[in-house]
Amino acid sequence: MARITASVYTSHVPAIGAALDLGKSGEPYWQKVFSGYEASRAWMREHTPDVIFLVYNDHATAFSLEMIPTFAIGTAAEYAIADEGWGPRPVPKVIGHPELASHIAQSVIQDDFDLTIVNKMDVDHGLTVPLSLLFGPRDPVKDAWPCPVIPFAVNVVQYPVPSGRRCFALGQAIRRAIESFDRPLNVQIWGTGGMSHQLQGPRAGLINREWDNRFLDRLIDDPAGLAQMPHIDYVREAGSEGIELVMWLIARGAMADVAGGPKPKVAHRFYHVPASNTAVGHLVLEN
Ligand code: DHB
Ligand code: FE
Repeated sequence: MARITASVYTSHVPAIGAALDLGKSGEPYWQKVFSGYEASRAWMREHTPDVIFLVYNDHATAFSLEMIPTFAIGTAAEYAIADEGWGPRPVPKVIGHPELASHIAQSVIQDDFDLTIVNKMDVDHGLTVPLSLLFGPRDPVKDAWPCPVIPFAVNVVQYPVPSGRRCFALGQAIRRAIESFDRPLNVQIWGTGGMSHQLQGPRAGLINREWDNRFLDRLIDDPAGLAQMPHIDYVREAGSEGIELVMWLIARGAMADVAGGPKPKVAHRFYHVPASNTAVGHLVLEN
């Protein structure tokens, strides 16, 4: 059977991708950000999974106001890198895992969650920046990402957004789905986006270190309690884009302890302000 071996959480700031792509990662400003990922890149080399189930949000790239799926699972064989206005990032295309993705869609929909099935979509910085952070620079032509990825897009851009409670329960359904796939795959689940940031309006630039660190503490030790927090608290305390953090609860809900197993081991924790307008948070939890 397939197993979820770890969950990884990270911010997805697009400027991080630009810093890598333009060769600026050695600059002092960016070095402080990337230094927090050195240990997890080494960890990842030792723990490269067979598949990553990557929870992220699309930023009006694949979807627009014409169509707004709350939860969308990618079942395609591959995904092109989106052009977000400056041309597509120079990174390899993303290879999918249609068999596992279809199995998860079947299981999770029958488990009462309404997913949108997406057979064709481009992926933006929400998905590619976490891959770059954890795997390092990759030549778009000569290299490939080390494993297939199942993109799972959550709407946190256009209201109404899903609750943390719903996301946490969905993570549990995703766990049941993955662990009922009859091939011995090592699967990681990633929760991405956040931490506190607001990109617009009078509060643009808002960062809340204390709240972010409390979020990390509770994500580790009290995820069920954290999942009860209403969306308005994210927006008030962590800024309008801080709501991206509900996606971390999907990954956390898929961990063994939530299903009665042992507590996860914290393999790595990092917090840094700022990268662009955002507080960067990063966690690696092993099952
Ligand atoms: C920034 C952060 C985001 O999450 C995003 O989607 C776009 C920009 C930023 O901090 O610049
Ligand atoms: Fe974002």
